Amino acid sequence: DSADKGEYRHFMLKEIYEQPRVIKATMEGRVTNTRVLEQALGTDAENLLENVRHVQIIACGTSYHAGMVARYWIEELAGVPCSVEVASEFRYRKHVIQQDTLFLCISQSGETADTLAALRQAKKAGFRAALAICNVPGSSLVRESDLVIMTQAGPEIGVASTKAFTTQLTALLIFTLALARQNGLPEEQEAEIVKAIHLVPGQVSDVLALDGEIAEMSKAFMDKHHSLFLGRGSQFPVALEGALKLKEISYIHAEAYPAGELKHGPLALVDSEMPVVTVAPNNDLVEKLKSNLEEVRARGGELFVFADKMANVKPDEGIHVMQLPSVHPITAPIVYTVPLQLLSYHVAVLKGTDVDQPRNLAKSVTVE
Ligand code: G6P
Repeated sequence: DSADKGEYRHFMLKEIYEQPRVIKATMEGRVTNTRVLEQALGTDAENLLENVRHVQIIACGTSYHAGMVARYWIEELAGVPCSVEVASEFRYRKHVIQQDTLFLCISQSGETADTLAALRQAKKAGFRAALAICNVPGSSLVRESDLVIMTQAGPEIGVASTKAFTTQLTALLIFTLALARQNGLPEEQEAEIVKAIHLVPGQVSDVLALDGEIAEMSKAFMDKHHSLFLGRGSQFPVALEGALKLKEISYIHAEAYPAGELKHGPLALVDSEMPVVTVAPNNDLVEKLKSNLEEVRARGGELFVFADKMANVKPDEGIHVMQLPSVHPITAPIVYTVPLQLLSYHVAVLKGTDVDQPRNLAKSVTVE
């Protein structure tokens, strides 16, 4: 199998490096230079999306984090209320279905038992339509949904999901724009975001060029037992995904918090033994985030900040800053995920764990 890994030591690293290409492939045929194409979601889409008043997203694991990012987009751009829930919770509770709700399942494999069970329940419960975002053609999820957007990530072998996540985000953003157009998103705003999507593959490549520096940074995590990841707004799910990656492959306990919640608990844990990782794009929350960072530093915590070069976060004692390219706030979650993937990859390599097949985990959880 090493032949399939090509020049890479692990499938995970190969898959991280494939992201510029597969994100582009997921856009192909679905967007022009300035707009989302009508046929992006299939021929029936316009009918089914018309009058959607609510979106219910269901997924597990990394796919759930993609759904959490999408909620910010759907509410901001389409103005449609959106709920997100892990499938294993949703399927076992009584839920109230609002009228004209679109049921959206996100799954790399299309075979996750809980996600499929939730979809089957939803179909009986009377949702308007079921849309799947999936990476495996012909999977159960694809066969059983009314609408499908295939991510073009290609086979993902590493158990820790990387390229599936960033292509899910790409597909979700395209879906959001299609829904937003039906809900009156101005043409200029659609054009601005589509242009930003076209820049993502290049920006991801720029982040990949920081690999050496991130490998260097990873040494600080090797002998740690706990870590904290912080983000605000649509970067909170990115922090969750960064923490999940570190847990999955390096077995370091990692927790993610919305930065504004810091003083409601996790700050009590911060000391020099607890590295704090923060994603800080240059959005309207950056100033608030900076004051959260000060709170950590005042308690002797060591900070690792991935920040937009325009965000003006300065390196200092106890603050390591990695400058990332300037990105549009809407597409920032896609780009900011990549350095966190690389960070956990390098920590795991240093610790000597089985990166592609971490203990106790499966690529696809097809039984409960
Ligand atoms: C497992 C995998 C994760 C994945 C999750 C959901 O836990 O290890 O990487 O995110 O299942 O899988 P799905 O195929 O539904 O996206």
